[in-house]
This record gives sequence, C-alpha cells and structure tokens, in this order.
Amino acid sequence: MATPSGYMNMALLVLIIWFLIRLSLTIEAIPEYRYSVCPNTSTFTPNSTYQSNLNQLLSYLTSNSTRDTGFYNTSAGQDPGNVVYGSILCRGDVTIDMCQECVTIASKDLVEKYCSVAKVAVIWYDRCMIRYSNESFFGNMDDSPSVSISNTQDISEPVRFNQLLQVSMNNSVTRAADAPTGAKKFATEEASFTANDTLYNLVQCTPDLNSSDCDRCLRGMVARLTSCCYGRRGGNILSPSCNIRYEIYPFYELAAAPTPTPLLVPPPPSSGSDGKNQISTTLIVSIVVPIFAVIFFLSSVGYCFLRRRTKEKYNAIQERNDGNDISTVESLQFDLSIIKVATNNFSGGNKIGEGGFGEVYKGILPNGQHIAVKRHSKSSGHGGEEFKTEVVLVAKLHHRNLARLLGFCLEGEEKILVYEFMPNNSLDHFLFDLDKQGHLDWSRRSKIINGVARGILYLHEDSQLRIIHRDLKSSNILLDEEMNPKISDFGLAKIFGVDQTQGNTSRIVGTYGYMSPEYAFHGKFSVKSDVYSFGVIILEIVTGKKNSSFLQSDGPTDLLSYAWKHWMDGTILEMLDPSLGNSYSRNEVIRCIHIGLLCVEEDPVSRPTMATIVLMLSSYSVSLALPRKPAFLPQTRTNQDMPSVGIESNKSTSKSKSTTINNMSISEIFPR
Ligand SMILES: *[C@@H]1O[C@H](CO)[C@@H](O)[C@H](O)[C@H]1NC(C)=O
Ligand SMILES: *[C@@H]1O[C@H](CO)[C@@H](O)[C@H](O)[C@H]1NC(C)=O
Ligand SMILES: *[C@@H]1O[C@H](CO)[C@@H](O)[C@H](O)[C@H]1NC(C)=O
Ligand SMILES: *[C@@H]1O[C@H](CO)[C@@H](O)[C@H](O)[C@H]1NC(C)=O
Ligand SMILES: *[C@@H]1O[C@H](CO)[C@@H](O)[C@H](O)[C@H]1NC(C)=O
Ligand SMILES: *[C@@H]1O[C@H](CO)[C@@H](O)[C@H](O)[C@H]1NC(C)=O
Ligand SMILES: *[C@@H]1O[C@H](CO)[C@@H](O)[C@H](O)[C@H]1NC(C)=O
Ligand SMILES: *[C@@H]1O[C@H](CO)[C@@H](O)[C@H](O)[C@H]1NC(C)=O
Repeated sequence: MATPSGYMNMALLVLIIWFLIRLSLTIEAIPEYRYSVCPNTSTFTPNSTYQSNLNQLLSYLTSNSTRDTGFYNTSAGQDPGNVVYGSILCRGDVTIDMCQECVTIASKDLVEKYCSVAKVAVIWYDRCMIRYSNESFFGNMDDSPSVSISNTQDISEPVRFNQLLQVSMNNSVTRAADAPTGAKKFATEEASFTANDTLYNLVQCTPDLNSSDCDRCLRGMVARLTSCCYGRRGGNILSPSCNIRYEIYPFYELAAAPTPTPLLVPPPPSSGSDGKNQISTTLIVSIVVPIFAVIFFLSSVGYCFLRRRTKEKYNAIQERNDGNDISTVESLQFDLSIIKVATNNFSGGNKIGEGGFGEVYKGILPNGQHIAVKRHSKSSGHGGEEFKTEVVLVAKLHHRNLARLLGFCLEGEEKILVYEFMPNNSLDHFLFDLDKQGHLDWSRRSKIINGVARGILYLHEDSQLRIIHRDLKSSNILLDEEMNPKISDFGLAKIFGVDQTQGNTSRIVGTYGYMSPEYAFHGKFSVKSDVYSFGVIILEIVTGKKNSSFLQSDGPTDLLSYAWKHWMDGTILEMLDPSLGNSYSRNEVIRCIHIGLLCVEEDPVSRPTMATIVLMLSSYSVSLALPRKPAFLPQTRTNQDMPSVGIESNKSTSKSKSTTINNMSISEIFPR
C-alpha cells in the first residue's frame, strides 16, 4: 500500500474537520424517538418460543445493520406459527455507525419500553425504523399503519409555503422512486422559502419496493401532508414502507445528499470485505476519524442538539390504528347484521335525523365506537361495484376538518354509510339556538371559519380526488369535543352517482339558501358554488341568523340583503350576533364579513378561490377587493318551503330530534 504524502495527509485532515463540523451542525447526537405502533390485541406469552425468536431476530437485525443500503430483512425461527419476520431501515444519509447505534437503541426500547409483548410492531426513530411481524411482509408495500407528526408552530404565508412544499416533495419523490429495486430509495431537496427560511425535505422507501410501489407509497404520504401539517413549520409522515419529512432547518446530512458524494467514513474495520478494494486514503480516515469524532461529538454536537430540540414541539397523530389497510374494500365493509345490532335494528329511538337521501341513526359498534349510520334505501344511482369504488376513494380523504367516513354496508337494497360520530352535533344546533349561541364566543367562531375553509380547500385542491361538495351548510359542519369543525357529507354526489364530470347537471344536490344562483337555476356547479355556500356560512356564523329562514320584522328579508344593507350603511357591527358580547376583535369580524360578501358575489369568476380565502383569513397583509352586491335568489321570500320540487327546507331538521347530527340532506330538484 502506498503511503500518502504529508501534504495529502494535511488536506485530508482539513477535509475531515470540515466534514465533522457540517455533521455537528446538522445531525443530532442521539437518535430521537418518533412513534411506535404495536396493537395490544395480538400478544405473545412471556418466555415463549415466539419471544426467544424475536430476541434472536433483533440481534440479527442489529448485527446486520451495517449494510450500505441501510436496509436489512430476515427472519428467525422455523417452527410454523412462531417464525418472526423483521426488517430495519436507516435514514438514507446516516452513516453505518449511526445506523447501528440507532437500531441498537430502537430494539432495546421496543422490547423494554414500548412494545414488550406485541406480536407485531413497528417503531420509528428519526434515523431508523424497526419492524417485525409473525407474517412475512417482505416486498409488500404497506402504507398502514401510518403516523403523522406535525410541528405545532405555524409558518408565515402558509399558502405559498404549501405550494413550495408540494413541488419540492414531488421532485424528491420522483428521484427516490426512480432508484432500481434493491438500491437505496432516498432523496432530499432544499428550497429557499424566505431570505431566512429554507425548506428541507426528505423522502425514503424501503429498497425492497419496486419503483411503482415506492412512487405510490410516497405520493400517498405527500397527499396527506395538507391534512396533517398545513401551515406548520415541520411535518413527518411515517409508514412501514415509506416516510417523508420536512422542516425549516437541516435535519439530515446535507453533504451526503442528494447526489452521492464520496463517503468519507468507511465501514468499521471488523466488517472485512468492504474495505479491500479501497485506496489507501480511506485507511487513514478510519484511524483519524474516531479521534476527531470523539472530540467533536462530545463538545459541539450535544450542545447543538439540546439547543435546537427544546424549541420544537410536536403533535403526533396515528391514522386508523386498527391495523386495517384503509385502501381495501374489505376493511371498509360492514355486515348488515352488525349495523342492525349497533342501531337497535334501526329503532326509532336511535334515529337522529332525516334528509333527502334517507335516515340517520346513531349506533354503537361492538368495540364501543360510536357511529352515525346513514341509511339510503332507494336503489338509485350507482350499482354496487361503482358505489364501493367511490366509497373507497372518499374514505381515503383525511383531513382534520373533514368528518371521517368509516365504511359502508351494501346488502340487497340497502346502501349504508358509516361515519364517525360527533358528540357536539352540528354547527346549526349551536348557532341558531338561543340557549346555546353563547357557547360560541368569537375565538371559537373564528376557529370554525378557518377550519371549514381549510377543509374545503383540501377537498378542492389538495386531495387526490378534487371534490366539489355541493351541499355545504351549517348543518353539515359537525363539531367535535373541542368544537373543531368537521365537514360532513362530502363526496355523496359521487358515491350515489349523481356526479357528472363536466360542471353541468340536471340533477341538483344542494340545500336551499346555500346554493349559488348559477347552480340552483342552471345546474352549473364548480368550486365557486362551494365558495358561495361558504360565504353564506360565514355570514350565518357572524350574525347568528339562518339564511334559509330569515326572520326580521322589518327591512331586508334575507340574510344576504341584510348583510349588504349594513355593509353599505357602514353599520356592520350592528348585525353581529348579540350573544358575542364583547368577546370579538372588531377588525377580525369586519374582515370575515368582508370575505363573506366577496364569496357571495353573483359572478362566480369574481368570487375568490378557497386558497385565496385561506390566505385572506390568515394574513392581514392581503388586501381585499371591495365587495359587489351579492346574488339573491329571487324566490327566497315566497317559496320558502317548496317541498313540491323537493328542495330541502328546514322542515327536515325541525322534524328531527334535538340531537340531530350528521343529517343527510342531499336533495334533488329538476329545474324546468
Ligand atoms: C389495549 O389498548 C386499549 C386502548 O389503549 C385499552 O383500552 C385496552 O385495555 C388494552 N388492552 C389490553 C389487553 O391491554
Ligand atoms: C421468564 O424468564 C425469566 C428469566 O428467565 C424469569 O425470571 C421469569 O420468571 C419467567 N417468567 C415466566 C412467566 O416463566
Ligand atoms: C445477520 O443475519 C443473519 C441471519 O439473517 C445471521 O446469520 C448473521 O449472524 C447476522 N449477523 C451478521 C454479522 O451477519
Ligand atoms: C428479504 O426479502 C426478500 C424479498 O424482498 C426475500 O427474497 C429475501 O429472502 C429476504 N431475506 C431474508 C434473509 O429473509
Ligand atoms: C399472526 O398472529 C395473528 C394474531 O395472533 C394470527 O391471527 C395469525 O394467524 C398469525 N399469523 C401466522 C402466519 O401465524
Ligand atoms: C410531479 O412530478 C411529475 C414528474 O416529475 C410531474 O409529471 C407532475 O406534474 C408533478 N406534479 C406536481 C403537482 O408538481
Ligand atoms: C431575517 O432575520 C433577520 C434577523 O433575525 C430579521 O431582522 C429579518 O426581519 C428576517 N427576515 C425575514 C424575511 O423574516
Ligand atoms: C411492483 O410490485 C408490485 C407488488 O409486488 C407488483 O404488483 C407490481 O406489478 C410491480 N410493478 C412493476 C412495475 O414491476
């Protein structure tokens, strides 16, 4: 072997020091625990064969974590029923030593802390993942269970940030998925957001996936970003087969990514063959590095680590932790017998509402979960297969401001949808009830307006489906325990086959008082018809008055003319719901009314898009155009209860019990 000259040696040292400094600034010293999932429903008995196989497996995985793809899969045990399959994946940029360190810590924590007797488990650290199961999963794409973790701090300019994030993530996904099967599937990208803030993102798949599976897995994660992390400074979505993360600080080793630069740290001397063909320089590095590593890591890294960590706060949410893969029809299908038991055989006592498409019942599943069951008995619209397909698509929509569709039941003539149950009923029950209005102070109302706007934005732009709701109204805004709004009944037009791809339909779904004129009269629907309905909802929230049964002894006879009159007269604050008391901020209220009026303009083109609305609501630096006179529905006064043409009036809500929630309220009218 040639001995390098002193000169070269020196240059090398400088290089190493630089490398370590970079390293110390970007990578934390200790692997950071993110989350673990281990269903406690399937456990092994202590000291069983399964347990000893599991321990064997974990030691195989730890000792094999020095592979340069950072991935290894293996199994332990032969005895059928007791074989344990497992794999590890280290983040693409971490060194072999860090990988092994992380896997060692993670396997210890798995057994001792988080999943002591679980038959099946997955645990994520920021730098590595360990997964094991009693069933082989090698080569499968598993995007469930998944966990999303978001930084609790908000970013400025969320709309622009989200756009940047989507584009940048998209680039990374394309690069990661392009790698051949078996190779490291990892990509990162940096993008400059403001002068001070750079966006760092990272995506990774397990190398056993082929390109199309990796692409599918990652795009699924990216699609969820909006619901978990919209407007947040950092986000991380983890699943067994792939994961993505973004932050506005470097959390991965920049030098090692995205294009492979020569890896300066060689495998540990003991792992023989890898080092054989290398030139002599690496040999020197292997001696020098440990010395510097000790010094640097002890002095600077720990400090950087502590300083940064204390500032960040995270929320973690596990999505559908029941171990089911949400994307399959089977996991969403409920037996009619179960629904019957849950709802007391659709007993009158369980009925909580009635609407154009059928009845709504409250129910309790055998596992104790409360559900809302929508029973659609008429056999119209889609056939069974199409119905199933649409339910599966709609059930994939996840957003914190959307009520979750848990599944469906399809037997004979019965078409049933099962939703999560919302204990606090719907917005209209608070807003238009003199006894309950007081529960909604301004900060809650403002939170509701913002949440609903984000939910609609997700439906319009960010979900994979691009759904126009077509029946937005305050009784479709459900409220959870903390009064967070959840939009319900989205996608019903698709599920029940009323949808048309072009924006023209002869079958109109929607509710009187919330429908835009072009939709009500010409059947033309677009995202802007939802914007109109949203505008009506804003005005209802601010005034506490219901548009479709607007009662005022003198003056305007509908909410929009009423709001417009006050706007023109400069008496905006007089129209506020008196129960708001003094809890509101004058500027915020006026801005909301202003935005509401922009939404209900007659010309759909001049109504803002939901993206603009979210921006207008979150940032005062966006200036608003002056609103024009809103559109009015001419028959508002005379035809208030028009049951003859099947428009839903508030009759159905007043008929139902006071606990009405999730009221199915899609109706059909056939304009002449
Ligand atoms: C499993 O977890 C659930 C929810 O965390 C808990 O209610 C239940 O008691 C646990 N079951 C066992 C057997 O530990
Ligand atoms: C399991 O093994 C450990 C150590 O070998 C022992 O202390 C413990 O009592 C055993 N438990 C059972 C249930 O046999
Ligand atoms: C790696 O795993 C295999 C089983 O898959 C095992 O035989 C071997 O001892 C492990 N350790 C090393 C260093 O290869
Ligand atoms: C790892 O998984 C692949 C399939 O992706 C399989 O062919 C291989 O046998 C597995 N390795 C071990 C050691 O089980
Ligand atoms: C794995 O464990 C689950 C739950 O204990 C069991 O239902 C399943 O049959 C097991 N799979 C195999 C291949 O043994
Ligand atoms: C994502 O990237 C692919 C391939 O580079 C491109 O075809 C697609 O239009 C991009 N999508 C977005 C939303 O940028
Ligand atoms: C960038 O940071 C500097 C100093 O911390 C601050 O004065 C400046 O306003 C920041 N610029 C932006 C665009 O946030
Ligand atoms: C990728 O793998 C999946 C599952 O193993 C398989 O269904 C699919 O056909 C593969 N795609 C390609 C392009 O090989």
